Amino acid sequence: MQVTYYGHSCFSVEVGGKHLVFDPFIKPNELAKNIDITKIKADYILVSHGHYDHTADLVELANLTGATVIANYEIYVWLQKQGIKKAHPMNTGGKWMLEFGKVKCVKAEHSSSMPDGSYGGNPMGFIIESTEGNFYYAGDTALTLDMKLIGDYRRLDFSFLPIGDNFTMGIDNAIIACDLINCSNVIGMHYDTFEPIKIDHDEAVRKFQRAGKRLTLFNISETKNYEFKTRLA
Ligand code: NI
Ligand code: MN
Repeated sequence: MQVTYYGHSCFSVEVGGKHLVFDPFIKPNELAKNIDITKIKADYILVSHGHYDHTADLVELANLTGATVIANYEIYVWLQKQGIKKAHPMNTGGKWMLEFGKVKCVKAEHSSSMPDGSYGGNPMGFIIESTEGNFYYAGDTALTLDMKLIGDYRRLDFSFLPIGDNFTMGIDNAIIACDLINCSNVIGMHYDTFEPIKIDHDEAVRKFQRAGKRLTLFNISETKNYEFKTRLA
């Protein structure tokens, strides 16, 4: 799997020959001003919730790429009104088989409204299962005991967790989340973009290390290879 960071909570994961883009928020992000959105490949765009910092470039990227958008039902309906017809509605607890693998929607402890104020349904996280590995994209969430169900459900190779605090869980709670989801290999997201979520990178990485876990912080536009050779059934 190839993971590329586009800033804030926006990542691309190439899996099964498909490009998955999560929570597109690029053009309004000062830190991501070097990213050219017209160069981003997407077969699927997965949207965790309606907030602006997760959907700002959703309609444009969907139009540019012709990607299928995976989102909750309310975001799906909102997208239809924006002229985006290629979308698949889901909701928490549901799973769906796609070309690259399986998507399961899980609970996120947060809120959700669309940038125009319309109702954004329930916020979600995603568990992606594929022959190349399994991962959890948490979206915006607090630490919640429900994460224990995620750890019980599948063995995860890595997880995208918010670590910026203020709007979501912070570093200390993300470390506790690792134990609940039974996954110690974390890619940090939802930090630095806005004043209240700026973090000390070295301190964050050290705190994870001291807890026996690994935090990876990507540079914006950086790509890393994630390979998991030994797959369990
Ligand atoms: Ni949010
Ligand atoms: Mn957010």
